[in-house]
Amino acid sequence: MNVNGKNSRTLWLKADDEQIVQVIDQRHLPHHFVVEDLRSLDDMVMAIRDMHLRGAGLIGAAAGFGMYLAALEAPHDSSYDHFMKEAGLRLQATRPTAVNLSWAVDQQLKALQAGKSPSEKTTIALNTAQVIADSDAESCRQIGQHGLPLIEAISRSKGGAPVNILTHCNAGWLAFVDYGTATAPIYAAHQKGIAVHVWVDETRPRNQGASLTAWELGQQGVPHTIITDNAGGHLMQHGLVDLVIVGSDRTTFTGDVANKIGTYLKALAAKDNDIPFYVALPSSTIDWELEDGLRQIPIEQRGEEEVKYIEGLCDGEIRKVLLAPEDSPAANFAFDVTPARLVTALITERGICKPDKQSILALFPERKS
Ligand code: MRU
Repeated sequence: MNVNGKNSRTLWLKADDEQIVQVIDQRHLPHHFVVEDLRSLDDMVMAIRDMHLRGAGLIGAAAGFGMYLAALEAPHDSSYDHFMKEAGLRLQATRPTAVNLSWAVDQQLKALQAGKSPSEKTTIALNTAQVIADSDAESCRQIGQHGLPLIEAISRSKGGAPVNILTHCNAGWLAFVDYGTATAPIYAAHQKGIAVHVWVDETRPRNQGASLTAWELGQQGVPHTIITDNAGGHLMQHGLVDLVIVGSDRTTFTGDVANKIGTYLKALAAKDNDIPFYVALPSSTIDWELEDGLRQIPIEQRGEEEVKYIEGLCDGEIRKVLLAPEDSPAANFAFDVTPARLVTALITERGICKPDKQSILALFPERKS
């Protein structure tokens, strides 16, 4: 997608040194565009854990490249396989909710079995990382094409007046390799000349909506307005939201959706106001093992400083300020689960389906056991 008019992905190999992975360090957005060099497995583990990069699809692709960096470091002896398995475990342990991480590590470990020597395995790890990244981008592009008719239909019914879409967190291209999921249909509609306007939930505590989604929509020229996390229900009651599109970090094959904390409340408000609530996700985000999202999806809990402090630009510098009494404890649940019954439909790379086992398996028949 566009950054100051130039096309960019969120991670890539350095042009003159294939042993370095470059990523957009999202901690500096929207104020500064910073590219970070990652040179080792340790670097990648730290970048995912400390959220230099984030978002389900992107951390999956990053884990793929993390395994490639691990392959470059692996000892050329009988401990090779053990080293690579441990590398996979370290990457998987960085963030527990998004299933894309384990999925990417598993893809790598499977692919590596075909290599006959460490150097052949390194080539395989690099190819696999690139395939994971490219397929993430392509899935998001297809999600855009499948979601576009939903926006077109609303636009027609409104006689071409702007379609108001509410989104939560950042399920944009910054959360993936390119295009994003929730944003892909929006970008496709905007490119086609359909008038759209996006309500962007600020998304406390890390403010991915206010700092990332608003920035990327602005870069693509998409009209948008940042709102407080609690404003969505009010806007829905007053007819100011035509549809909700969010992303997902893990969706069970029965249609329960884990996404950024606060998503569930938006789904409840949408239900009460008869507003379609769509979840856009690539199949790498579907957990084919879990049936009961509420009880089985692990919910990441992060440090209390993210709730008690807020960060922003002040006199040209990024500063962090305390919002709360220093001694008050704070809880920081990073995700919640929206039950399938509150979801209108899933938008995937293969098309749109109802959030239930039968419909999901009809789109992905190879998953039927
Ligand atoms: O904690 P983050 O920023 O990694 O959260 C993940 C997300 O980007 C959101 O939950 C998003 O809506 C899911 S789509 C990747």
